[in-house]
Amino acid sequence: MIITIDGPAAAGKGTLAAALAKHYKLAYFDTGMVYRAVGLQMVLQKLDLTDESAAEKVAKQLTFTQMMELSRHPDFRSDVGGQAASKVSAFPKVRAALLKMQQDFSLNPVFADGTPANGAVYDGRDTGTVVCPHADIKFFVTASMEVRAERRYKEFVAKGINTTYEKVLQDMTERDKRDSERATAPLKPAENAVMMDTSAMNSEQEIAAAIKIIEERK
Ligand code: DC
Repeated sequence: MIITIDGPAAAGKGTLAAALAKHYKLAYFDTGMVYRAVGLQMVLQKLDLTDESAAEKVAKQLTFTQMMELSRHPDFRSDVGGQAASKVSAFPKVRAALLKMQQDFSLNPVFADGTPANGAVYDGRDTGTVVCPHADIKFFVTASMEVRAERRYKEFVAKGINTTYEKVLQDMTERDKRDSERATAPLKPAENAVMMDTSAMNSEQEIAAAIKIIEERK
């Protein structure tokens, strides 16, 4: 079974993806990680984030091991990593360089320890529209901008990242705009996606609602 979960930042995709992967014993692919890895690598190498060719080169050279190493950097999940990811992900050449490895995962999904899985849960922006258009079930998860900014702000505070609610809100507004307005694979629901607004839901309610939908579809 392949499940895709797309939507804007802090809508509740990651929590839902991890819970569904656990519930159905599926592998989990957080596709934002590949763009964060390319973006952060550019920042660390002091490369120009507006240079598509440089970003394409970094994307083509990115290995799984390097991505895991970069994921341990303090800025991987911060505003710095998020903004850099959003910028490089708008380049068609970068998306093209990273598409096959994302699609190949659905052919041979594996758990984090390398053992094979019977399917995968993808989370990202274009996983139901571009990466896995033949997924068995597609979700598009949203929440109001204020709710998402509040959630992300609390996550940052819990991680000890020094920021303000206003800064998070501004960063998220910019990122949403860039992610939805780019020409290649913009953030938008797949035609057959199940829409879920999680603004008034806690994670337990969100997970229960998604499992109910999957069971009804089975
Ligand atoms: O989900 P995230 O916040 O980790 O994603 C970081 C950025 O990566 C996001 O702003 C847009 C980009 N991204 C994308 O373009 N396509 C995906 N499938 C996943 C993420």
